[in-house]
Amino acid sequence: MDFKLTEEHIMIRDAARDFANSELLPGVIERDDKQEFPTEQIKKMGELGFLGMMASPEYGGGGMDTVSYVLAMEEISKIDASASVVMSVNNSLVCWGLDTFGNEEQKKKYLTKLTTGESIGAFCLSEPEAGSDATSQKTTAIDHGDHYILNGTKNWITNGNTADFYLVIAQTDREKKHKGINAFIVEKTWAGFEIGPKENKLGIRGSDTHSLIFNDVKVPKENRIGEDGFGFKFAMKTLAGGRIGIAAQALGIAGGAYELALKYSKERKAFGTEICNHQAIAFKLADMHVSIEAARLLVMKAAVDKDNSGNYDLSGAMAKLYASQVAMDVSVEAVQVHGGNGFVKDYHVERMMRDAKITQIYEGTSEIQKIVISRSIING
Ligand code: CAA
Repeated sequence: MDFKLTEEHIMIRDAARDFANSELLPGVIERDDKQEFPTEQIKKMGELGFLGMMASPEYGGGGMDTVSYVLAMEEISKIDASASVVMSVNNSLVCWGLDTFGNEEQKKKYLTKLTTGESIGAFCLSEPEAGSDATSQKTTAIDHGDHYILNGTKNWITNGNTADFYLVIAQTDREKKHKGINAFIVEKTWAGFEIGPKENKLGIRGSDTHSLIFNDVKVPKENRIGEDGFGFKFAMKTLAGGRIGIAAQALGIAGGAYELALKYSKERKAFGTEICNHQAIAFKLADMHVSIEAARLLVMKAAVDKDNSGNYDLSGAMAKLYASQVAMDVSVEAVQVHGGNGFVKDYHVERMMRDAKITQIYEGTSEIQKIVISRSIING
């Protein structure tokens, strides 16, 4: 077993780190405060290849492995989790989903624009009554021969207003339950598609989260992904990989908060010495460090599983469950190490603490990860 990164991996990680520090750090506090989407920064991320890292080069993607993607996600998330959720949805849900399950025409028409950041994508599964219980889709897509008519509402959609193309999951035949669900590529400009109000969120406030309303939207049949009834499996398979990206995001938030806490503890003096010399703080740093390293091993294991075996449902769920708990715990402790300064925006850690919470909720709550894990260990 070799835990060393390759030279290429190190290069990708360092490029992401440099980009995060030079382009995302300036203004991250203001964007969070004003709920401002990092438009220019996301454009540059597209130009640098961070938005289609794993997609096939013939469609403009980077053709990189999941390990590379996870390393870049971690570095971007250390600085700006709002930017990294855009990156995560575009890479692991939209581009990967289309690259893996889309047909040639769909890839040429949509994927080539999504991999380069010319267009942004969104993944639309959640509904008012179908967040965790994903089979209970109320949005319908009724078959009309050469097209479907789409009606319903989607909630909490990342890139809700920024996206150009939306992967929408909808129920075509309720009798068939999850086997009657389909996934469609929907364009923003189509008649009857309305963007609902922006959510005012606790964290990842620079990202763009909206409800979407579909009112008799006509979707050509060629925009269905896969065979009739493939939509639920498409969503599950895509989300299973997406969870590795969110686990990497959580790892990055934890790492960012820890690095700030360590630095602060070496500068801040109390009772005649730097606070890192007090065991109360030193032990916190030790706990943070160990839990981050443990989370990293789980995240990397899931990434390697995805690259090597295609069997990553269990390791991805474990990585997300654990890394998101670590993000929460470490960011809370990082605020504590900063004392009063941790409670004000200038020191970044309060934002990280707020951002950490969503990693326990989206792409399947921690409870959903435990369902996936327990079913896997019980049923084999
Ligand atoms: N890969 C392939 N197929 C899968 C699968 C996977 N990972 N997981 C399930 N399936 C298949 C099953 O094999 C089964 O198919 P068959 O009937 O042919 O055997 C079918 O799907 C139904 O499976 P289950 O009976 O296990 O389904 P369930 O209703 O019990 O639900 C669940 C399972 C894990 C709870 C699932 O509903 C789930 O993952 N829920 C959470 C959804 C979620 O993550 N939502 C987040 C929204 S997206 C988001 O957050 C994006 C963002 O903005 C950042």
